[in-house]
Amino acid sequence: MAPSWPLLLLLLLCLAGGGILQPRAQPDSKGFISIDCGYPGETSYMDDTTMLSYSPDIGFIDSGTNHNISGEYVRPLLSRRAHNLRSFPDGARNCYTLTSLVSGLKYLIRASFVYGNYDGLNRPPVLFDLYIGVNFWMAVNMSSWSDPAGGVVTAEAIVMVLDDFVQVCLVNTGAGTPFISGLDLRPLKTTLYPQVTAAQGLVMLARLNAAPTNKTYIARYPDDPHDRIWFPWYDAVNWAEMSTTQTVQNIENDLFEAPSAVMQTAITPQNASKNIEFYWDAEPKPNDPSPGYIAIMYFSELQLLNGNDVRQFYVNLNGNPWYPTGFTPQYLSNGATYNSYPSHHSRYNISINATSNSTLPPIINAVEVFSVVPTTNIGTDSQDATAVMAIKAKYQVQKNWMGDPCLPKNMAWDMMNCSYATPNPSRITSINMSSSGLTGDISSSFAKLKALLYLDLSNNNLTGSIPDALSQLPSVTVIDLSGNKLNGSIPPGLLKRIQDGSLDLRHGNNPDLCTGSNSCLLATKRKNKVAIYVAVPILVILVIVSAAILVFFLLRRRNQQQGSMNTMTAVKPQNEEAMSTTSYGGGDGDSLRIVENRRFTYKELEMITNGFQRVLGQGGFGRVYDGFLEDGTQVAVKLRSHASNQGTKEFLAEAQILTRIHHKNLVSMIGYCKDGEYMALVYEYMAHGTLREHIAGSDRNGACLPWRQRLQIALESAQGLEYLHKGCNPPLIHRDVKATNILLNAKLEARIADFGLSRAFNHDTDPVSTNTLVGTPGYVDPEYQMTMQPTTKSDVYSFGVVLLELVTGKPAILSNPEPTNIIHWARQRLARGNIEGVADARMNSGYDVNSVWKVAEIALKCTAQASAQRPTMADVVAQLQECVELENGRAVYTGGGSSSVDDPNWSHGAYTSGQSSNVSDNTAFEMEHRVPTVVTGPAVR
Ligand SMILES: *[C@@H]1O[C@H](CO)[C@@H](O)[C@H](O)[C@H]1NC(C)=O
Ligand SMILES: *[C@@H]1O[C@H](CO)[C@@H](O)[C@H](O)[C@H]1NC(C)=O
Ligand SMILES: *[C@@H]1O[C@H](CO)[C@@H](O)[C@H](O)[C@H]1NC(C)=O
Ligand SMILES: *[C@@H]1O[C@H](CO)[C@@H](O)[C@H](O)[C@H]1NC(C)=O
Ligand SMILES: *[C@@H]1O[C@H](CO)[C@@H](O)[C@H](O)[C@H]1NC(C)=O
Repeated sequence: MAPSWPLLLLLLLCLAGGGILQPRAQPDSKGFISIDCGYPGETSYMDDTTMLSYSPDIGFIDSGTNHNISGEYVRPLLSRRAHNLRSFPDGARNCYTLTSLVSGLKYLIRASFVYGNYDGLNRPPVLFDLYIGVNFWMAVNMSSWSDPAGGVVTAEAIVMVLDDFVQVCLVNTGAGTPFISGLDLRPLKTTLYPQVTAAQGLVMLARLNAAPTNKTYIARYPDDPHDRIWFPWYDAVNWAEMSTTQTVQNIENDLFEAPSAVMQTAITPQNASKNIEFYWDAEPKPNDPSPGYIAIMYFSELQLLNGNDVRQFYVNLNGNPWYPTGFTPQYLSNGATYNSYPSHHSRYNISINATSNSTLPPIINAVEVFSVVPTTNIGTDSQDATAVMAIKAKYQVQKNWMGDPCLPKNMAWDMMNCSYATPNPSRITSINMSSSGLTGDISSSFAKLKALLYLDLSNNNLTGSIPDALSQLPSVTVIDLSGNKLNGSIPPGLLKRIQDGSLDLRHGNNPDLCTGSNSCLLATKRKNKVAIYVAVPILVILVIVSAAILVFFLLRRRNQQQGSMNTMTAVKPQNEEAMSTTSYGGGDGDSLRIVENRRFTYKELEMITNGFQRVLGQGGFGRVYDGFLEDGTQVAVKLRSHASNQGTKEFLAEAQILTRIHHKNLVSMIGYCKDGEYMALVYEYMAHGTLREHIAGSDRNGACLPWRQRLQIALESAQGLEYLHKGCNPPLIHRDVKATNILLNAKLEARIADFGLSRAFNHDTDPVSTNTLVGTPGYVDPEYQMTMQPTTKSDVYSFGVVLLELVTGKPAILSNPEPTNIIHWARQRLARGNIEGVADARMNSGYDVNSVWKVAEIALKCTAQASAQRPTMADVVAQLQECVELENGRAVYTGGGSSSVDDPNWSHGAYTSGQSSNVSDNTAFEMEHRVPTVVTGPAVR
């Protein structure tokens, strides 16, 4: 009956999820990151002229100060992004961290700088250095530009990134305060720019588009999907222009993918007998006096040639042929010549001349020139670096915690030591954060520093418990946690390390930390609620009480066996601890905790409930009262009506179960009372009452639960039940799952309640059997009804009914026009594909139909007649999880627009203010030593 299209739709929706204007640092759907450095806002903005979304830089850096450039430099063509900047008066090195990258991919990284007299000193910094990770990128020298104060300087590099993050660092060289105006990152396929390897990157000198039809046209995204910026390049005196409106195709396995918009135009000499000539000069650097250069020249034939016409030319470098046999560009197809290995000259004179066979003059469509930089410095071990970055973020460490933790050595982070065992990556071997004012708990990231030998966190204000994961550090020999406010006990893994002598754990002067003795068992999460009253004697009392309860059970059991008719099977303690005051909740990871229960006297209960004043609810055993513990914790007190003997066994069963199981989706017991004839259970207070009230819309505000919330509640209650079935040994059958037994706390988190009818179920030795059918009409599994043999699948059935209640907003048994079971009612309508007729109309279509369908389908599977056909609670949890994820995905999707193009004008500024004079329409040229690799169009057939 389940139509498959809704699921498909759901998946499509999921895949379509995309661009949203995020305030924070994530690549957009194209993998682009575009940052407006020093932008004071907290959310991205869409640049009107370019349609690219610029993020503020707050999520990428935590140092430096924002400035606006001076008004006189805010010119019409300057992009909004250049109006402000971030400067770094403090610290030798300040870094932007770009995350969520794909390790091994190539990335184009572009930084922009406009001084604009932001500091009012009218003194552009002479020099500061840029680094990509631990590798030198380039020196930014504002004063070498024609307009150092107002010009735009652009630095661009293409590098292979070997981690899933990259850092761009500005290093103060003592010649002026570093600053930055904008930072972009664009992913490139690994096949592009084969000159870029793990060991070598390219730094752009020029990227020129010959003779664009519109002289101010700057090609970039979306014309260039990789958002390279191609500046116009023309010389009306010497060069004639050619163009086509047809698309120029990339070739198969194109190594550069020059965009058609750039390739559609070309230049050729005005005088057909002349050559195309231009040059550039090498820019020697202090650390590299003879830098190597890579040039890529792009050619495509734009004219359909007549029969006998030939266009063929040589590309010469400094008077020597680059490509000895002549190059013939292919019609409307990309071609390029490039050198694979860097060439070293002081001047590069390029000349393109026609071969003697050629009837047509040479052409060129575009050119790129790069210098090469080594990227052989390897940063600190990537797992170590990621871990300390997380530690830095958690404790808001300022200091010099910027860039790579260990490298370069003179900038290694304070408070840590590294090992430098080249060629291996550096490792962090010790951390000393003693007396650093740390607060909060101990970061689990410390346990990820696998080379750590020494960890000192002493004399801080650390709270919480000691993570056992620290015992997984293979080499650590000293951990100093003394002088903090840690609580809990020493976790077993660390105890073992201490015992076998491999670890010196110092934990003195942590007043709340339990060490070694029994008192450890009493320290708990709920300490603030209970611990004031908990002392060793309590343990003793509780053990006695527990024993008494056991005896009570045994006696009762014997009596019943003798009386024979009504055999009651008590929940078997799963271990010795089950009846004691402490137990370890098991199950799903984080629920592992030590819990104790407090014993209350009747008098205390009277005080807590202010004389049993306010009734929260009513059950078969008696009433539930509102109360407050001494520390202000609100609680619910379930008092067994002593008039009724009926509830005693359920009451005791529940007390017993709740002492031994703990899960975030099961209502938790704070304590109990067994005071003479009085028996009471004290629970955490569930501010929002029962799920049933909420579905019926009778909560305090009469508000209708939105679908998203219903879904979340469904998932959480399913997790609670899954825990009973799978996390408990033997499995525990609740036997009375219904909407009134699912409670909601202040945060609307769901907890399963009322374990009075629960039964342990042990396949081997203890088949559950009882003559009494229990449960609530409308929820009872028909198979159980027939066999009198409850199984975990009986709970699944009842839970299916709860799911239907969530979907429909109706009770388990409809009364109008005549009593009908909700399963029957929903099945009929769903079989006709009528989901709208089933879904709760009060949700006002505020839901995704597919997601409601899916839950309805799960509900129908749960309520299958034959228990074998029903899913397990684990299956149900998994499927609801999917629904929640899809629903969350939907929210992101609907959250915002998409981002794209950047502002060309700014970059145009860079070109006009600086680079135009370097690569231009000049004369003469030279040649490459090595045989160049040449890319031509597809072979002519
Ligand atoms: C920069 O200018 C904007 C408005 O143009 C203003 O809101 C902001 O406060 C200025 N920032 C500084 C640091 O002066
Ligand atoms: C040339 O391009 C610029 C910017 O892309 C645009 O503003 C202008 O209108 C264009 N001019 C013509 C004649 O198309
Ligand atoms: C073109 O340049 C090459 C290399 O410099 C030279 O050998 C050749 O004679 C030139 N051809 C013409 C037609 O000028
Ligand atoms: C020019 O044409 C001749 C004859 O077709 C041929 O042998 C020669 O290789 C060609 N030269 C070039 C540079 O292609
Ligand atoms: C811990 O915090 C308190 C105040 O919250 C402060 O007085 C004390 O100096 C801090 N101790 C350490 C070691 O940082």
